[in-house]
Amino acid sequence: MSTGRYTIEPIGHIHSPHRKPKETPIQPVFARGIRGTVTVEERYADGLLDLEGFSHIYLVYRFDRADKVKLRVRPYLQDQERGVFATRAPFRPNHIGFSVVRLLSVEGTTLHVEDVDILDGTPLLDIKPFIARYDLRENVRSGWQDEVADDTARERGIRDYAPEQGRDQE
Ligand SMILES: C[S@@+](CC[C@H](N)C(=O)[O-])C[C@H]1O[C@@H](n2cnc3c(N)ncnc32)[C@H](O)[C@@H]1O
Repeated sequence: MSTGRYTIEPIGHIHSPHRKPKETPIQPVFARGIRGTVTVEERYADGLLDLEGFSHIYLVYRFDRADKVKLRVRPYLQDQERGVFATRAPFRPNHIGFSVVRLLSVEGTTLHVEDVDILDGTPLLDIKPFIARYDLRENVRSGWQDEVADDTARERGIRDYAPEQGRDQE
């Protein structure tokens, strides 16, 4: 068993129209139609073989602009404090985020993706395919999120993102 510190190097970067955290949608479901690209480092090109067969992929990344750790956070969708591990907030130990985005195409080491809730220039740590057989669940409980009405979630979740692309395709 290995313990201690790990050094993780990005395998690429995520590019998006999002420049300001407060104007970035809080989840892919609230970022419908917002396109981005993922540039994977050339040395990992071989690992992209067969990825194109998947309509959705997980992007695992580092919240590189989250400058602090908070164990209690006030989530975007509610005005009540919650434990950070019961949220998807960026201010977590290790600052690791993941988003299920739609994969539009693979062009060499560039992935064209949609439904992006990630800031431009974010370091990419890993890519995994979304696999319905493994990832879909029934009888799900969503804790405090179940207290938030769908309309409220949508209103707060989209935030102020409003350039030409994106919202109009909701
Ligand atoms: C609530 S987090 C959820 C992200 C991801 N879908 C997840 O579940 O881990 C989404 C917010 O993270 C912030 N964010 C996105 N990329 C970031 C980055 N590289 N550094 C810091 N914050 C970032 C944006 O403000 C965005 O609205």
